[in-house]
Amino acid sequence: MRTRPLKVALLGCGVVGSEVARIMTTHADDLTARIGAPVELAGVAVRRPDRVREGIDPSLVTTDATALVKRGDIDVVVEVIGGIEPARTLITTAFEHGASVVSANKALLAQDGAALHAAAEEHGRDLYYEAAVAGAIPLIRPLRESLAGDKINRVMGIVNGTTNFILDKMDSTGAGYQEALDEATALGYAEADPTADVEGFDAAAKAAILAGIAFHTRVRFDDVYREGMTEVTAADFASAKEMGCTIKLLAICERAEDGGSVTARVHPAMIPLSHPLASVRGAYNAVFVESDAAGQLMFYGPGAGGSPTASAVLGDLVAVCRNRLSGATGPGESAYAALPVSPMGDVVTRYHISLDVADKPGVLAQVATVFAEHGVSIDTVRQQGKDGEASLVVVTHRASDAALTGTVEALRKLDTVRGVASIMRVEGE
Ligand SMILES: NC(=O)c1ccc[n+]([C@@H]2O[C@H](COP(=O)([O-])OP(=O)(O)OC[C@H]3O[C@@H](n4cnc5c(N)ncnc54)[C@H](OP(=O)(O)O)[C@@H]3O)[C@@H](O)[C@H]2O)c1
Repeated sequence: MRTRPLKVALLGCGVVGSEVARIMTTHADDLTARIGAPVELAGVAVRRPDRVREGIDPSLVTTDATALVKRGDIDVVVEVIGGIEPARTLITTAFEHGASVVSANKALLAQDGAALHAAAEEHGRDLYYEAAVAGAIPLIRPLRESLAGDKINRVMGIVNGTTNFILDKMDSTGAGYQEALDEATALGYAEADPTADVEGFDAAAKAAILAGIAFHTRVRFDDVYREGMTEVTAADFASAKEMGCTIKLLAICERAEDGGSVTARVHPAMIPLSHPLASVRGAYNAVFVESDAAGQLMFYGPGAGGSPTASAVLGDLVAVCRNRLSGATGPGESAYAALPVSPMGDVVTRYHISLDVADKPGVLAQVATVFAEHGVSIDTVRQQGKDGEASLVVVTHRASDAALTGTVEALRKLDTVRGVASIMRVEGE
């Protein structure tokens, strides 16, 4: 057992960072035994130095994060500031000064993962980020290591707890979007500005990271098709129920059937109640992985929160410290497959389309003709008429997104179609 401690610089001491510091202190003996050397908190960088931070020695607190990572005696930098800058510069500076890095920063990894991995490799250091996707749930390491001998074809998950909480509320109580959002905000599940969650930005960053790792290819945030869930209505849930489905905001990363390309997308979708992801309630996260040899796997657990996220950070910290002691590094970026990321139009799935139409003879035939002309085959049609107006719910067989978009454009031009009330993809069948 080495007695000289490994020195850790903590950048950020907010929701996650404060829990990382707490666990480092309270579990110090266990961490020492598991790593083979003690770990010492050598400095804590924050924005507001005068804030009371329970359990943190005030002499460790600094506002000069750059000086902390440049000290030269830091073994591991834990970056839990978030955002692009100054996190990006601090991480690259850490590598230049000999430290390995553990980060929880999905936004940065999804945008600049390749450059950060290259910097880590150039300096012979580790970059670990288990906490960046789905909080406490072990996912990056299983994909990167446990499934390294398998071929992953699909990763489909609920990777944002806020939106799952809102959709679950709408499903279980019949509430509308705004009512469910208000409750999520009151209970602390949604931020004052929920845009990053409800518009799917957060999930899209995670989808980019997952797709890159799963398919050994580079997928950036901008490659991910994104649709938020603010337009999902109580009527959509009622319609989903009639089909034996519920609605979830899903991040879906797929290898094309011919294996020559991949897609990554985030959008609300109907999934059958029998699918394992349908039973993920409240703010929980889960990711469903399909691979050639293993078959179907599901990873489930708390996707956010200080303590769960710190659990993932600490797991990385232990792994990185062990690597330091053995003079090794863990797996770096694996992008050898270099598959192109196809546009959304190439995605093939099923669709649920709800139309407001005139309630008169021949409308159904007109609508069916438009679908046929665009090569989109109809599975079922449900019609409800009232006072000269009717609603028509069409569920299609599998079709490309491009074909569906063309169909909807043509439907909108029909005199008898008053409006397209909703279009939702149907997944997991
Ligand atoms: N919260 C979660 O549940 C969760 C889950 C998974 C991943 N993450 C990721 O974890 C990271 C941290 O999230 P968080 O929720 O802990 O954020 P947070 O509560 O807002 O904490 C951010 C911390 O960074 C410090 N900071 C901000 N700008 C700084 C600067 N320029 N220099 C030095 N320190 C600075 C802040 O200082 P002050 O304390 O002085 O304000 C604060 O301590 C993000 O990348 C986030 O995406 C969070």
